[in-house]
Amino acid sequence: MNAIVTGLSGRNAPIHPAAPSRAEAYIAAHDFARPTLVLDLDAVERQFRALTAGLGRAHVHYAVKANPEPRIVERLVALGSGFDAASRGEIELVLSQGAHPDHVSFGNTVKRASDIAFAHQAGITLFAADAEEELDKIAAHAPGARVYIRLLVDNPDADWPLSRKFGVPADRVIPLLAHARARGLVPHGLSFHVGSQTREAWMWAGTLDRVAAVWHAARDAGFDLHLLNVGGGFPAFYGTAIDHPTAYAAAVMDLIADRFGDVAQIMAEPGRGLVAEAGAIAAEVMLVARKSDDDLHRWVYLDIGKFSGLAETIDEAIRYQFVTLRDGAPMGPCILAGPSCDSADVLYEKRPVSLPLTLAAGDKVMIRNCGAYTSSYASIGFNGFPPLDVVVLG
Ligand SMILES: Cc1ncc(COP(=O)(O)O)c(C=O)c1O
Repeated sequence: MNAIVTGLSGRNAPIHPAAPSRAEAYIAAHDFARPTLVLDLDAVERQFRALTAGLGRAHVHYAVKANPEPRIVERLVALGSGFDAASRGEIELVLSQGAHPDHVSFGNTVKRASDIAFAHQAGITLFAADAEEELDKIAAHAPGARVYIRLLVDNPDADWPLSRKFGVPADRVIPLLAHARARGLVPHGLSFHVGSQTREAWMWAGTLDRVAAVWHAARDAGFDLHLLNVGGGFPAFYGTAIDHPTAYAAAVMDLIADRFGDVAQIMAEPGRGLVAEAGAIAAEVMLVARKSDDDLHRWVYLDIGKFSGLAETIDEAIRYQFVTLRDGAPMGPCILAGPSCDSADVLYEKRPVSLPLTLAAGDKVMIRNCGAYTSSYASIGFNGFPPLDVVVLG
């Protein structure tokens, strides 16, 4: 395959060499019977080291939901990472790969009571909450646990915002910390999520201002908060230049230091920023069609769609890069769609994708930087199309 896009970061460091990544080279050299995600564990390790170099004393808790591939977890355990788990299944996964319960937080604010009890039994002592009832569940099933309250923040600049569903408004935080204390829990800290794929570090500033105001108010109110959990949001390269991960993380840490001063413990939960660039998907063109002779746009149907790995194309939020063997030939705009018999399974229509005019059914298509939120979304066989295959390069 050719035509690998080269991107230069805002700090001049090349973030993508012109040469294909190891996962991309593997795809170019192999044939696949169905859509397949190829993951490079060494790339995950390099990204972990790059992020942690910038994060300094902040401890990484990998957001397992981004890619629950056991060998990624195993590698990250070996590197000293912690884990943000969203469910009993993710807790079982990380413990089975050797994670120490002290390095695992149960970060979902909506937890089944029996799963809280399971986590408690397994030795996990750190839980997220954003409601009284959730604190009551934690107090009943994990007595004495440390809790952090998730703050609701706007994510106007994130490509994949996580607003509204999670967190409480600022004025609810102190009552919740008091509720936790009254239930015998340890009000340990605050968390927030700036929004996934926050492309530039300065975009954190407004959110950090608001979280810092709550943090200082809570401390003034007598809550000896220890933990600031800054969530995820660290970006991946999808064709728009981003800073090198070390520079980005260091810039975020500078913004935090300016606003929070001396925080005992800082935790970051990168998902996308850690694993997206370690993976690429091998896909295939199923059909190229025009709806009429004078139609400017071709419809290109791939063998992968919204329900089989590319869920983050919802609202065309995440824009993947496509590489074909015919790149270099004249290009034209295409509406890109998935293979299922569901009319929602259109990937890009508002902003069509430019693909070679000679593209035809049976052509290989490689999708770049797909290591995050693809195989984890594609866990069911909607329409009889099997879930995304995964190949791990150790
Ligand atoms: C609580 C929590 N932490 C971290 C993440 C990871 O975010 P990102 O992939 O943007 O790094 C998520 C993503 O949904 C999350 O819900």
